[in-house]
Amino acid sequence: MKLDQQRVKKFQTFIFSWWKTHKRDLPWRHTHDPYKIFVSEVMLQQTQVLRVIAKYREFIERYPTVYDLAQASSAEVLRMWKGMGYNRRALYLKKTAQVIVEQYQGIFPKNEKDLCSLPGLGTYTARAILVFAYRENITIVDTNIRQIITHFFFSDILQKESLIDEVADQLLPKGKSWEWHQALMDYGALRLARPCSGQALRRSFTLRNECASQGKRSNKSRLKIPFRESNRFYRGRIMDRLREGDIHQSDLIKEFTGTYGKSEDFILMILQGLEADGLISRLQSGIVCLPE
Ligand code: ADE
Repeated sequence: MKLDQQRVKKFQTFIFSWWKTHKRDLPWRHTHDPYKIFVSEVMLQQTQVLRVIAKYREFIERYPTVYDLAQASSAEVLRMWKGMGYNRRALYLKKTAQVIVEQYQGIFPKNEKDLCSLPGLGTYTARAILVFAYRENITIVDTNIRQIITHFFFSDILQKESLIDEVADQLLPKGKSWEWHQALMDYGALRLARPCSGQALRRSFTLRNECASQGKRSNKSRLKIPFRESNRFYRGRIMDRLREGDIHQSDLIKEFTGTYGKSEDFILMILQGLEADGLISRLQSGIVCLPE
């Protein structure tokens, strides 16, 4: 699909003029250090911007360089990760820092293929590092940006990802990739996710409904179990308990069966999952702790 040049220019002007008065001052926008961009992007993957701001500052103060993070123990990084959820991200951050130090002389690679080979790092994060740290003229398409393109270029009707990517590539103002993506992310977060007008709100619902009616289950429609009943909830509580200190497995099971009324086998299953993910260690002595 080839876009008319005038339409492209008009859309770029619209987004940039909106951004002039709405841009957010976020701490990771004051740096081009790929390590810091990497940390912020991993944090932003599954956590709200407001929570990330405080944790990002704390994290960078404790681990100002990739070398500091590479040297930290997993237990320490997991303790620092408190309140963020999806704890595996903390392990990936640390593992990637180790690979960068050991295999890349402390310098993040400047190409997508090598970046994507790093632990837990996918196309989106690789491209975000290339754009926000190395100012490459390439496009990033996250959920919000996909939604913006679907909204303005396809009247909110869902399209194949390849078609959205094609449009995204044509919309990119050459030489302004950094500003363009920050602007789109702000627009997505401030205008589409929390719309000001009822019309925009209805549109965002339409998108989700179409998603559901096409049989593509969106994340939102898949979340049927209340959070307090989900495995993720109990994983989080156990991780929080271990952040306070080591505990014998039998005591931990007693504590959790007592507090939450779950069976011993349920807690054992959660512990097994955490262990398989490398998030906890179960020692021969029966002690459960954060991994070294
Ligand atoms: N989400 C992911 N990357 C972001 C960024 N750089 N700014 C704001 N939100 C984001």
